[in-house]
Amino acid sequence: MTDEILLKIENIVKNYPGVQALKGISTTIKKGEVRALVGENGAGKSTLIKCIMGVETPTEGRVEICCDGIWKQAKNAIEAKKLGMHANYQHVNIAGGLSIAENYHLGRIPKTQMGLVDWDAMVKNSKKIIDKFHLNVDPKAVINSLPVALQAMITISKISVNENIRLVIFDEPTALLENDKVLILFDYIKELKNQGISVIYISHRLEEIMEICDSVTIMKDGAYVETKKVSEVDKDYLISKMVGRPMADIYSIKHRKPGEELLRVEGLCGKKFKNISFQLYAGEILGFFGLVGSGRSEVMRAVFGVDKITSGRIYIKGKPVQLNNPKTAMLKGIGFLTEDRRTDGLALIQTVELNTNMYSYDMISKGGIINLKKERKRAEEYKEKIGIKTPSIKQIVNNLSGGNQQKVVIAKLLCRDPDILIFDEPTVGVDVGAKEEIFKLIESLIQQGKGVIIISSYLPEALGLSDRMVVMAEGHMAEYFDSKRLKQMNEEDILRAASTIYNQEAL
Ligand SMILES: Nc1ncnc2c1ncn2[C@@H]1O[C@H](COP(=O)(O)OP(=O)(O)OP(=O)(O)O)[C@@H](O)[C@H]1O
Ligand SMILES: [Mg+2]
Repeated sequence: MTDEILLKIENIVKNYPGVQALKGISTTIKKGEVRALVGENGAGKSTLIKCIMGVETPTEGRVEICCDGIWKQAKNAIEAKKLGMHANYQHVNIAGGLSIAENYHLGRIPKTQMGLVDWDAMVKNSKKIIDKFHLNVDPKAVINSLPVALQAMITISKISVNENIRLVIFDEPTALLENDKVLILFDYIKELKNQGISVIYISHRLEEIMEICDSVTIMKDGAYVETKKVSEVDKDYLISKMVGRPMADIYSIKHRKPGEELLRVEGLCGKKFKNISFQLYAGEILGFFGLVGSGRSEVMRAVFGVDKITSGRIYIKGKPVQLNNPKTAMLKGIGFLTEDRRTDGLALIQTVELNTNMYSYDMISKGGIINLKKERKRAEEYKEKIGIKTPSIKQIVNNLSGGNQQKVVIAKLLCRDPDILIFDEPTVGVDVGAKEEIFKLIESLIQQGKGVIIISSYLPEALGLSDRMVVMAEGHMAEYFDSKRLKQMNEEDILRAASTIYNQEAL
């Protein structure tokens, strides 16, 4: 890092109807500096990024970038890119219907002498990038066919195709990534830094900030709090500044003795998994751990009736059931928080109120007529209960911060009051304070006698919350830990189990 300043952010204010998202943010970033941006959900981090990138126009203030000694301002996203500014946004933004190779070459597709698309060149270039990021995927693979974690990595790697990069912004890049991919990203960030490129890095995982960043800017409720060298702070300090209070061990929730069997899965087979059996009891948390591609989410999708099963049986409270679609699963008392919230979870251009009630209008309707009072009451109730930060329940969900959108999905699920809850990555993108709220909520659910399955690729969370744990690898059940054994396991043990390699025979 040099002392030369690359980016000047001067008194940025951003007003939206009813919300002041940014209340005058100023800071400067040096060449080759890796600057973290932290703050609770809704603090204004993503909005600041959009103002820097010219995607949003600030109500007041300006952003300037130094290009070869001359200070310049980007009026829009295209100009920002020309000035060497690139952002990896919070929500995967990539052309899902196109191949990886086409995505890498968007806007600059190589042509043959005949004027046709030069696929060979595209594939060759793409392979280089894919190898650089250790992705092990076919350049012709269509984005939508890939797991979300891989899509996220493709989006990240896509930045590297640009020339004259001066600044790269990552808005929660690791939310969907597992350990090995995080390390690849960190290597890339180090490489950028060594080339004198500046980085702005947003994450709710504070340990990442301690590891990869030089300095950290703390924001709270749209306001600038302070900027510190990372070497001068620790996690607790950051949390107390972000949340306004210190926090104890967030995983220390009260467990209870498990009760009756709620769900039993026997010998379940599907396209991407084989012979899966487990039980879920009232009042317990069953952890499902596995690396990306292990089939953990696919098993849950099958249990919820999204994907087809080829054989096996599912029992709810001892009775065999056929769950051919999510609606049936829901009516039988299963609630499922999917991994891909943005596309599976929310009606983005609808209100918080509608989204909260979306799965359960039948419960508040009579003769096809919705009880509007109940509709409103439920939305207000959950807004309070889960702490959804929004000026009103009439707000469009798309206008909420990432973490708050997540909370709306949880509200929607809880409204049906299901006995069996499956949470796939429940805390992705959620700040430390809100994480604690979500865990408290899960605690209250198990106290009420509900059964909870948690899929988490974040090991401290998976280990910290689960009573028992199933570990999956390559579509198989690699290990099962009952509560006694699980207590003796550490993160390494679980990772080792998840790395089991199977003969690729029968899957
Ligand atoms: N287009 C919009 N219209 C209205 N309000 C908005 C809009 N975009 C953002 N906001 C509001 O601005 C505030 C800041 O949101 P922002 O997305 O910047 O938060 P964040 O710090 O990135 O949070 P998270 O950690 O959850 O991603 C929030 O209260 C949000 O609801
Ligand atoms: Mg954000």
